[in-house]
Amino acid sequence: MAPISDQVGDLFYANLFRMDPTTKPLFAGNIDLQGRKLVQTLGFIVDHLEDPDRLLPAAQELAVRHVSYGVTRTQYASVGAALVKSLRQLLGTAFSPEDEAAWAEVYGGLSAAMIAAAYPDTSYTKV
Ligand code: HEM
Repeated sequence: MAPISDQVGDLFYANLFRMDPTTKPLFAGNIDLQGRKLVQTLGFIVDHLEDPDRLLPAAQELAVRHVSYGVTRTQYASVGAALVKSLRQLLGTAFSPEDEAAWAEVYGGLSAAMIAAAYPDTSYTKV
């Protein structure tokens, strides 16, 4: 996705804000910069899938920072859905059902760990 990071970012935020308008007011800054950060972070996650000892603590700290950005636990499901929709729109048939299932599994596992770290008093729900 790196070569198309600007398109991924633009489309992702358009989809996210339409699918879950509660997310829009949280993004006050430069949305282009944010889109590139998103793709960089996704790259970091993919590169470290085999290295959970590094990935998990980084994801947990990231999740705790997200509480101070005003992010709620239910918004993780919206982000996951907007991400898959954007990949499907951009990649078309190159984004296979197997790819989609793999993304859902990675994002579901990661976001469950992030939610558990950031909102420890709420019960576990896989998104
Ligand atoms: C796997 C899930 C997610 C990843 C990998 C991720 C990644 C990031 C990264 C790398 C940043 C830059 C700032 C930092 O490092 O603290 C950031 C900021 C931010 N993220 Fe996420 N995020 C995720 C989920 C979410 C969700 C569910 C929301 C809810 C809408 C969200 C909203 C935001 C906001 C509002 C900011 C700050 C924007 C700003 O003011 O600059 N993120 N995210």
